[in-house]
Amino acid sequence: MINIKSPREVAIIKEASRLVAKVFEEVGPLVKPGVSTQYLADMAEKVIQSGGGIAACKGYGGFPGAICVSVNEVIVHGIPSAKKILRDGDIVSLDVVAKYKGYHGDACRTYPVGIVGEEKLRLIKVTEECFWEGVKLVKAGVRLGDVEEAIQKHAEGNGYSVVREFTGHGIGREMHEDPYIPNYGKAGTGPTLREGMVLCIEPMIMSGKPDVRTLGDGWTTLSKDGLPNAHYENTIVVTKDGYEVLTLEEKL
Ligand code: MF3
Ligand code: CO
Repeated sequence: MINIKSPREVAIIKEASRLVAKVFEEVGPLVKPGVSTQYLADMAEKVIQSGGGIAACKGYGGFPGAICVSVNEVIVHGIPSAKKILRDGDIVSLDVVAKYKGYHGDACRTYPVGIVGEEKLRLIKVTEECFWEGVKLVKAGVRLGDVEEAIQKHAEGNGYSVVREFTGHGIGREMHEDPYIPNYGKAGTGPTLREGMVLCIEPMIMSGKPDVRTLGDGWTTLSKDGLPNAHYENTIVVTKDGYEVLTLEEKL
């Protein structure tokens, strides 16, 4: 069941989402060669806690980190580690969930580390575009499949593939609620969007084949062919005439 949030609930989710955006504003600039993924997670947790929130990934299904930090071929659920040092030419995604007054906000950005090759930069750009291509269709009355198809077309049209094993999702009191939002689909199918639905749309785009494997730690998921992946996500609320994106940075 897809629950509709009241204006009061949306207001709280906005506050949770603001904490997530603050992480990108404050921790994004710390992404550089020589820093560990643990350091980035620690700083993200500080930002969330100083705003009165909880870094909700920690302990979720047993996940050990405050946020997910995924480097290069890791597509999702990278575990922060003091031993994992970012190097010039890497790309790294920070997937951040804040819980505030019982509600969640969730977003992800992929950053270049130092000087990064054209191909990885294009992957990051197209992944972000996939989000906007999908979200621009959102308004009350539209079918979710329209959004999913738009994301898939933009990714595949650029020679990339979309991951099948992970999807976007509704969000609220729970980090993951109905509906599930694959990054592929067919226009005219799926649930109809209603005002007050709060959704996480999150293209996870692979530069090679869409096959993934998970390491023995039970979390770290990477492309089988070793090629890099990117991830871009925002929490949005569906409105009568469109949508509002809740997790955008204020300054960039
Ligand atoms: N932020 C992820 C998502 O988009 C979930 C993180 S999984 C966790 O759904 F285990 F780290 F919480
Ligand atoms: Co999410």
